[in-house]
Amino acid sequence: MSKSKKIIVANWKMNPASFKEAKAIFSAIKPKNKKSKIKADVVICPPFVYLSALADYRSTRIKKRSTLINLGAQDVFYEPEGSFTGEISPLQLKNLGVKYVIIGHSERRALGETNEVVRNKILACIKYIITPIVCVGENKRDESGNYLSFIRTQIEEIFSGIPKSALSKIVIAYEPIWAIGKSALREATPVESNEMAIFIKKVLSDLYDQKAVENVGILYGGSVNTKNAGEFLKNGGVDGLLVGRESLDSEKFNEILKVVSSK
Ligand code: PGA
Repeated sequence: MSKSKKIIVANWKMNPASFKEAKAIFSAIKPKNKKSKIKADVVICPPFVYLSALADYRSTRIKKRSTLINLGAQDVFYEPEGSFTGEISPLQLKNLGVKYVIIGHSERRALGETNEVVRNKILACIKYIITPIVCVGENKRDESGNYLSFIRTQIEEIFSGIPKSALSKIVIAYEPIWAIGKSALREATPVESNEMAIFIKKVLSDLYDQKAVENVGILYGGSVNTKNAGEFLKNGGVDGLLVGRESLDSEKFNEILKVVSSK
């Protein structure tokens, strides 16, 4: 990925309950205003059921106001078409103009998604030129550093079989599970995020080489809010943020985007 721009991803999860509400949030997002230039790729990941209508809406909006919001999905299947009841393919997403897909979110892993499935989904995205945002993260921290070996194994299992040439097309989101959602133990600190960004790159450079890792974008996700976004971007060692709850409130999400523009 290009490191000159940050990436700010909104993960709406299974919200909101109606398209009317989804459109209201989407239309209130301001990825650009007249004064400041866009310094981030803004990616909105709504539930699948709203993607098509938001893609239509987005194209009219782009013409009118020259704003730019990328659409992302929260998951994808690894086959392009066929008898896979309930699944959504990378080809279908690509044909809608979807540019990013979150893969291996901890809430999907909790439902049984394995590192092998995550790997197949990444390969499918690469094939259809969609940027995978691959989530990794431990569910607890311990003083003896077992969380580090957990992340190492996660990355090794996911990336075995991913060619070096694909690396620059992949974004990794570090999402410590203990810092995600309403039941988060606490927020992570920018120091912790920075440490993990370095560690993730180290594991990847052991698997590939240092040069290949230079262009891998790393995001932080987990209880990102208007107060901590700036610190994560400044001192968290990351190229962007993955925002859950605060992305459903367009005012707060716009605040986060403003923080990015001021960095
Ligand atoms: P949160 O979710 O910001 O609500 O903690 C982040 C995520 O799970 O991607």
